[in-house]
Amino acid sequence: MPTPDFIVKRIQKAVARPENHRYPDYEGAAFLRKAVAKYYERRFGHKIDAEKEVLITIGSKEAIFHFPYAFLNRGDYAIVPDPGYPVYAISTNMIGGRVYKAPLLKENRFLIDFDRIPESISKGAKIIFVNYPNNPTGTVANDAFYRKLVGYARKYGLLIASDFAYSEVNFQEKKTPSMFDYDKDKQFSVEFHSLSKPFNMTGYRIGFVVSNPYIIDALKRLKTNMDSGAPTFIQEGAEEALLKGDRAIKKIVDVYKRRRDVVVKTLDRVGISYNYPEGTFYIWSEVPEGYNSISFVQTLMEKTGVIVTPGNGFGEYGDGYFRISTTITDKRLVEAMKRIEKFLS
Ligand SMILES: Cc1ncc(COP(=O)(O)O)c(C=O)c1O
Repeated sequence: MPTPDFIVKRIQKAVARPENHRYPDYEGAAFLRKAVAKYYERRFGHKIDAEKEVLITIGSKEAIFHFPYAFLNRGDYAIVPDPGYPVYAISTNMIGGRVYKAPLLKENRFLIDFDRIPESISKGAKIIFVNYPNNPTGTVANDAFYRKLVGYARKYGLLIASDFAYSEVNFQEKKTPSMFDYDKDKQFSVEFHSLSKPFNMTGYRIGFVVSNPYIIDALKRLKTNMDSGAPTFIQEGAEEALLKGDRAIKKIVDVYKRRRDVVVKTLDRVGISYNYPEGTFYIWSEVPEGYNSISFVQTLMEKTGVIVTPGNGFGEYGDGYFRISTTITDKRLVEAMKRIEKFLS
């Protein structure tokens, strides 16, 4: 979907102003950090210090990738969800850290089961990555999960790196839980936010991180040596989105909800099991009898021209699943689902 018009217009004006052609403020412009604080209070009910507790990033991927560089030493473990967004494990591996894959299983509603993590790993770990609303499963974590998570992190002295890229793509009535509902003083949690998903701004590369001043400062020191910040005219667009974007978010999320319903109705008709998505724009589905992830995806592509993502691309525990993404137009989605239905019947 295109970026909402009011955001595009603000950026068009901003890019024409010569003062925006200079290097940006590395940690993010003060006006955007203030907008983040207002947005946070409005959407999540938490007061944050715009000066010390926010860092503007070049999308959330950049921030997530750099996070282990700031906090892991060689040999330290990061606990990452499997299936999961691949960047957590790749970044950890690239700096010589070790990865423990915490399985997200159907019987546990695709939530991490802390009791399954061996004591030796918990003791050797520094970071645990979590991502709810979850890519690829579509699960939104509940209160009980967050309480356990905080208890676990406190016990072993872990940093909780919460990938909150889909914070706004939540179909439930209740607001998406924030780490800071549970870790109220931001003692050991970090939230990674993205403007890509709620405002259709994937191509602009803009996001932000919220945490305590110590963590923000460490990430800032690393980042200012690696990049020079997000372009100021993009930051102006982000300010517009965060201050005035609530209606736009609702419109976008309604579209994904409508598309989710199109997909699940078809899957119900053809007897494919799936995790009913509480958020995100993905439908995590089980491959039919006689296939694995790869053979199913390949056959579907060859027979119907429809491409879905093989579950094992998200980790070994993703095998046996495929992921449908609803980021195409309604018309194309309906056509794709018709072809899938024909193929499977
Ligand atoms: C779980 C998850 N986290 C982070 C990102 C990165 O988003 P961005 O870098 O556009 O903010 C994505 C993108 O697909 C994602 O699925």
